[in-house]
Amino acid sequence: MSDILSQIEKLKKEKNAIILAHYYQNADIQDLADFVGDSYFLSEKARDSNADYIIYCGVKFMAESAKILSPNKRVFFPAYANAECCMEYMATPTKVQSLKDEYPEAKVVCYINSSSEVKALSDACCTSSSAEKIVNKIDAKQIIFVPDKNLGSYIQEKTDKEIILFDGCCNVHDKVTPKHIKEYKDKYQNIEVVAHPECKKEVRDLSDYVGSTSGILNYVKTSHKKEFLIVTEKGIAHELYKQNPDKKFYFINMICNSMKKIFPETILEALQEEKYEIFVDKDIIKNAKKSLDNMLLLSR
Ligand code: 13P
Ligand code: SF4
Repeated sequence: MSDILSQIEKLKKEKNAIILAHYYQNADIQDLADFVGDSYFLSEKARDSNADYIIYCGVKFMAESAKILSPNKRVFFPAYANAECCMEYMATPTKVQSLKDEYPEAKVVCYINSSSEVKALSDACCTSSSAEKIVNKIDAKQIIFVPDKNLGSYIQEKTDKEIILFDGCCNVHDKVTPKHIKEYKDKYQNIEVVAHPECKKEVRDLSDYVGSTSGILNYVKTSHKKEFLIVTEKGIAHELYKQNPDKKFYFINMICNSMKKIFPETILEALQEEKYEIFVDKDIIKNAKKSLDNMLLLSR
């Protein structure tokens, strides 16, 4: 084991720390993490863990959500530079409040990829793997869904409730077009296309499966097919190859730069120097925690 990895292991034990990593993280970060998963799984792990320190390797809203769910734990987000999801600040508290005023009967479901302030104004948060259940279970016929119009339109296809969409999207997933998919389908006749619901409807409609990062991994593992076009961020390749050494994968060049700002060195700094700690305002925690707790409750 390299010197840096052994120092991380040693400090983790001394401090009762765990390392959580999203599937889009660099491969070496996924390899050193205690748990790797999608944003729903990692939120649950953050809440349920007995660790005193959580080192969260993902993007900022994920680490803030861990802090909100577990205010008594110390959460560290070891990104060397600004590492926000591009959707994090698309829906602002002012815009959400004006939608609430416009639709007083509606409940607000915010995608977890939102700021803590927007979470505090929402009735429930959701992730891509839990959105359908939450929208169907929440006690309202009209749902204001912020900020991702693509995930929102995907959920609209799955529910009889009225979804009021917001004009946000992930610019990594939204840039994929039907042309990209058709090129692969024409070239590889036996290919299965699996896509994240942050993709446009026209792309989802050309896919054999649509789901969260962990949904994609489960689908591929159980599919009898051997070749797949993966329509989500390329970091997932690491886990796909680990789980399916006999299968072949093609990728569209989808890179989320914000997910690539964490390194073993910055994790060591977090553990050694207590750098990169996440702090969230107490009043925001109080209200945003209700939305995140509702997410975990309603998606059961
Ligand atoms: P998952 O919940 O599927 O991991 O998605 C998080 C995300 O940011 C996708 O772009
Ligand atoms: Fe946000 Fe898109 Fe990156 Fe996911 S891939 S974290 S939605 S910018």
